[in-house]
Amino acid sequence: MTRPIDTSGLLGDTVARDYSRKLSQFNAFAGPELRQSIASLGLKPGMHVLDAGCGTGDALEWFRAEVGAEGSVTGIDLAAAHTAAARRMAPADTLVVQADLLKPPLAGHTVDLVWSVNTVNHLHDPVAGVRTLAGLLRPGGRIALGQSSLLPDMYFAWDARLERLANEAVRQYYRDRYQVSERDLTAVRSVVGLLQRSGLRDVTVRTVMIERTSPLRPADESYLLETIFRNTWGERLRPYLSDEDFEELTQLCDPEHPDFALRRRDFHFLQSFTLAVGTVDAH
Ligand SMILES: C[S@@+](CC[C@H](N)C(=O)[O-])C[C@H]1O[C@@H](n2cnc3c(N)ncnc32)[C@H](O)[C@@H]1O
Repeated sequence: MTRPIDTSGLLGDTVARDYSRKLSQFNAFAGPELRQSIASLGLKPGMHVLDAGCGTGDALEWFRAEVGAEGSVTGIDLAAAHTAAARRMAPADTLVVQADLLKPPLAGHTVDLVWSVNTVNHLHDPVAGVRTLAGLLRPGGRIALGQSSLLPDMYFAWDARLERLANEAVRQYYRDRYQVSERDLTAVRSVVGLLQRSGLRDVTVRTVMIERTSPLRPADESYLLETIFRNTWGERLRPYLSDEDFEELTQLCDPEHPDFALRRRDFHFLQSFTLAVGTVDAH
């Protein structure tokens, strides 16, 4: 069940790793709620924003719209493929750099806001990551850590048992795949403490719900079908379920099957997006 570890990050990120399709799909799916969270930050024209672990760079244009032409937006990411996708996606006046956020190629004390979504939980030492990013902030600058979370009760409104089994199977898969213990898998509620332990002050947190019912937008359907049903679940869960349960799950996830979950009128899905924000003291 275990695979050899060929990773640099806790969850397997390397320069060569590429899950850009999954990232684009997540951002297309959650775009309205992510933009709502960005709007809540009260950014001003002329500010300097860094997206640390920018992935495919979908947020860069949202930040550009907030800070205007007189501001600056920079994205950094470890993975070559993600950085290349972000360069294609980013507005022309936006800098995208392939770099390790633990060794950021930016001058200290120059950034007004560091935005980092679903990224510091990929580091072996997230406190070191947050401290490094905080060192880039101007006095009074802020760091915003975003974390999305799949809510265990909200896949199959009509079958709590199968939902529970699918969730347990996913957790077991991740523990085996990355050879981490459950304690190593950072939970969404750890971001507040992480900012506090990293020396940030005035830590606030707010969670928005990404809630979808039938009929789904095309962006919702492709995220749920490809990213969740096929890539998060799919064949890799077979060893963790009985033959009968795996077959039932497969049918619910199959667009050709009459029981396909996304065509049910009672389909109701919830994913949360939590944003914790802390402020850096004067250096
Ligand atoms: C789950 S993805 C999130 C991407 C993006 N923030 C989003 O929400 O779509 C995590 C990203 O962090 C990047 N990453 C992981 N470790 C990194 C590091 N040490 N320095 C910079 N980027 C890193 C990965 O390459 C990946 O693009």
